[in-house]
Parts: sequence; structure tokens; C-alpha cells
Amino acid sequence: MNPLPSTVRTDSVASSRRQFIKTTTGALAVPHVVRAGQAQANANEKVVLGVIGPGGMGMNHLRSLARTDRVEIAMVCDADQERMAKAAKEVEERSGRAPAAVSDMRRIFDSDDVDAVVIATPDHWHAPAAIMACDAGKHVYVEKPVSHNVREGRLLMEAVERNQVVFQHGTQSRSTAHVRRAMELLHGGAIGEVLVAKAWNSQRRRSIGKSQPEDPPGHLDFDLWLGPAPKVPYRPNMLHSIWRWWYDYGCGDIGNDGVHDLDLARWGLGAAADIHPSRIAALGGKYFFDDDMQWPDTQNVLFEYAPRDEGDRPRQLIFEQRIWSPYVQEGFENGNAFYGTEGMMLLGKSGGYQLYGKRNELIEDKPSGSPDLGAHHGNFLAAVRGDATVHADVLTAHRSSSLCHLGNIALRVGRTLQFDPQREAIVGDEPANDLLGRRYGEHWSVPEEA
Ligand SMILES: NC(=O)c1ccc[n+]([C@@H]2O[C@H](COP(=O)([O-])OP(=O)(O)OC[C@H]3O[C@@H](n4cnc5c(N)ncnc54)[C@H](O)[C@@H]3O)[C@@H](O)[C@H]2O)c1
Repeated sequence: MNPLPSTVRTDSVASSRRQFIKTTTGALAVPHVVRAGQAQANANEKVVLGVIGPGGMGMNHLRSLARTDRVEIAMVCDADQERMAKAAKEVEERSGRAPAAVSDMRRIFDSDDVDAVVIATPDHWHAPAAIMACDAGKHVYVEKPVSHNVREGRLLMEAVERNQVVFQHGTQSRSTAHVRRAMELLHGGAIGEVLVAKAWNSQRRRSIGKSQPEDPPGHLDFDLWLGPAPKVPYRPNMLHSIWRWWYDYGCGDIGNDGVHDLDLARWGLGAAADIHPSRIAALGGKYFFDDDMQWPDTQNVLFEYAPRDEGDRPRQLIFEQRIWSPYVQEGFENGNAFYGTEGMMLLGKSGGYQLYGKRNELIEDKPSGSPDLGAHHGNFLAAVRGDATVHADVLTAHRSSSLCHLGNIALRVGRTLQFDPQREAIVGDEPANDLLGRRYGEHWSVPEEA
């Protein structure tokens, strides 16, 4: 199956998709690539993939996709030769076909055979890689958070729209059955008007210790790994995986585990949170770990959504993070609570949900459920073939990921932010406004408009 060229959609297809997205995700529609007459013809065709960054999560994608019907992983790409070789071997073992293994992702973007890419690099590469992929006409599945900062999220949205490609965000709970059912209940008024939603991240992380610069291992192309980030010497507690605790590569745990639950909190608030918040306040810091971790281990953020019109009410989203807790909260390590005018709901993406009415009467109990990565892949592949609309489109991704970035900015500057949701600007606070973007090194991957 070749990459689909830019869209020619019939208005009826476009408007029914738009309607579907509005009613199921509350998000605005992002145009899709599939031409009306082409969808059926594509239904049985193989989707050819490139997997970029097959590390921890990238290997989860690769293992699942290598055995998926009508999918071929034709290329794998990693800046670490050992990881690249392991990924190629795994694809061959699972699918019977050896993929091309490359270290420069532009070889994937240049390939006419590849329809879509899965990007599971560290966060500082997400938007730069995804923008290049979109501009090469590839459909894109990008891990969360979609961006390293608000500005890059906006640039990626523009790239998806400009190229009319299919885009899926790696928030797999959006395709998970018990979560979708919980959202139907909330949006159907099961607890009245949801005025406040909470997301928490309560677990015990490991310290990353302290380190000094040293030579990178021979199998790692460290300059390529840094890519768009400023050039710095290698340090052993920067990677793999633990890059998420450093400002230039990750977004802290709010952008790591937190983004999943923030996304669900925002979804549960419904149409009222289909916009950025207007006020953001945060407190926290390094209360527990004494190491090189730059992002906070303790972080409480309050987001306020302005009323949409006269007669509407404001809504609030609360985020709590304690990554030194050797216990879960309300039954869930990472979870959500929704507080409505008639009842409340507890939800765990890895758990289930309990719906309570007045005086805590238990109305519905779904005691189990777990995130369904396969369903999220299936939804993406169906969208690429023209048979479905993605569950986590780029606007949804941008709004939920921006919560992480805004919560981080509020904490870093130590002030309540007044945010203009339309202009995506922090009002009256230049130092905070500057943190909507980031500093770059000299590199081919830096987005032109950044
Ligand atoms: N959806 C989920 O539930 C979930 C769970 C865990 C991680 N993640 C996300 O997956 C992503 C990866 O996280 P991880 O913990 O697997 O990190 P990781 O460090 O284990 O893996 C990242 C891989 O990307 C590679 N890489 C870096 N720069 C590259 C480049 N220029 N070209 C090709 N490869 C490059 C690294 O060498 C590494 O192998 C992150 O965005 C993270 O937020 C998502």
C-alpha cells in the first residue's frame, strides 16, 4: 500500500467524520487522508510501517505490530546500534521477514514503501520527527506526550493538517473498552454536571543518582540521540529511559505517566475542556530524591477552564503527583476521580471504575480493565485504511499534552499563569511565555518555524 496522496474528500464523508469526532471525543475534526472511493479498496491492503525508537515502549509496539494481520514492519530505526539490531531480530523472528535497520530516520521518510511510522523516541524528538514524517506524506503514530512544549504541539498540528495524514497519539486508554464506557456514562450525565476532575500519579520511582560527563558507549550515536537538543557531554544517568527526568529531553512524570490521566480527566470534563485552561497554578519540587533529576518528584497543579458562555460554569482539573509513594491511591497507582453535581466516579485505566450516586450509593461497579494497546493500534490501522476515525487525534493530543507543559511552566516560574487559550500565549509574563518553546542545538531536525 503506497502512502496516500493529499486528500480529496467528499463533503458528506468529511462532515460525518466531523460529527462522529464531535460526539465521541468532543474534539474538533482533523481532516483525514482517505478519499471516499478509496477506503474500501484499501481495506484488505497491507500497511507498511517504520518503527522509530524501538526502546522500552517502542519494542512493545514492535512486538504487537509484527504479528498483526496485514501489517509489515519494513524498517526499524534507532540511534543505538544494539537496540536497532535487537529490534530487527525481533521483527524477523515474529514475522519471518527481516526489516531494513537504519540509524537515520530520514531514510524511512524517503522510502516510497513505507505508509506509516510509529515514533517512540524520547520526547525531545517527538514533534521534530513527526513533522518530518507528515511532510514526507507518512501517517503517524506518536508516543505521548505529543510534544516537548506547547509551541511544538502547535507546529505538529499544522503539519498534520497541511499534509492531511492520519495521526494517532499514544494514549491507548482512548481505545480501551472500560474507559470508553466510563466516558459514555460521564458524558451522558450519570453524575450530573462534572465540575471537577482529578488525575493522580502516586507510585515509587527509582533515583537516577548523580553522574559526571564521560564518553558515550560505542554502540550509541549520542549526537543523533541529542538531535534537536543543545549539545552537551554524555552522562550515564541521562539515558535510556531516564531521560524523562531532564528538562531538555523529557517533561517530568506529569508528561510521562501523568499525561494519560490528565487526558482522561480532560475527556471526562467533556466539551467544557475542549479548549486550553485559562488559569494554571502549581506547587511542588524535589521533596524526596537527592539526585540529578531536574523535574519535580512532588507536583500539584490546578487548571481552571473558563465558562464557555453566559450561564455556563467554570470547571477545574486537579493533578497530584507523588512519585515517592510506595502505595496506591483510591485503589489506583494512576487514576482519576470525577466529581459531579449528582455523584462521583473513580476510574483507573488499569483497574476499572466505580460510579456513585447521592450519599455514595454504588450505582455501577466495573472492577477490572487494562489499557488496550492492540485496540489503539487497530484503530490507527483502520484509520489509515479509511475504515475508522482515530480515537486520539492531533488536537486531542495537543490539548492534553499542553496541560503537562503548562503545569510545568507554572511550577518553574512559581506564579499563577493567565493563559489565552486562543492565542496560546501566557498573558503578562514574558519569562513564562518563553517556556512555551525551547532552546535548540544546530541540527537538521529542528522544525523550520520553531
Ligand atoms: N503509551 C505508553 O503507555 C508509554 C509507556 C512508556 C513509554 N512511553 C513513551 O514511549 C517513548 C519512549 O519511552 P521509553 O521509556 O521506551 O524510552 P527509551 O529510552 O527506552 O527508548 C527510546 C529509544 O529511542 C531511541 N532514539 C533516540 N533518539 C533517536 C533517533 N534520533 N532516532 C532513532 N531512535 C532514537 C533510543 O536510542 C531508544 O532506544 C516516550 O515518548 C515515552 O513517553 C509510552
